[in-house]
Amino acid sequence: MVDILTDDHREMVELLGEVQRTADASRRRALTDTVIAEVMRHAVAEERYVYPAVEEKVPDGPRKVAHDKEEHQEIVELMKAIEDLDAAGPEFMERVKELDAELRHHAHDEETRQFPELRAHLSTDELSALGSKVEMAKKLAPTRPHPNAPHSELFHKTLGPGVGLVDRLRDALTGRHTG
Ligand SMILES: [Fe+2]
Ligand SMILES: [Fe+2]
Repeated sequence: MVDILTDDHREMVELLGEVQRTADASRRRALTDTVIAEVMRHAVAEERYVYPAVEEKVPDGPRKVAHDKEEHQEIVELMKAIEDLDAAGPEFMERVKELDAELRHHAHDEETRQFPELRAHLSTDELSALGSKVEMAKKLAPTRPHPNAPHSELFHKTLGPGVGLVDRLRDALTGRHTG
């Protein structure tokens, strides 16, 4: 479980780095939508499977999870701001940099604090069962475009890029349907 989530963190940070190195606005938009989709898949899987285990098994778990969920919410708000912005405009990259910083901070917290605590308080079997659930949750999630094929037809047919993406992803991921 720890390996899967740590790999996700690396991938998000790498993709955001690529966004910041990309001059072409439409490719930047597509890469950013890919990051947003990745982050939502990851966050929904964590909140559904990993955080409840922290609440139950880790000392002071509920308080720690409340903090982590607050950070998720900040990240979600930032992604919502980004989805509304023109990828060619001046504010876009500033917001992307903020997202980069928040994601690194949150991932670092989890890797240095939460994961070692889970390792300490869950059995190997419990950890690998959690890993399978996280994997499954990610497979059920809508297809995302591969970073090198940013205009993946399936992804955009399923969800479409841009405005409302965060909410639509969350609905698709949680099986919640809005009007
Ligand atoms: Fe998280
Ligand atoms: Fe995470």
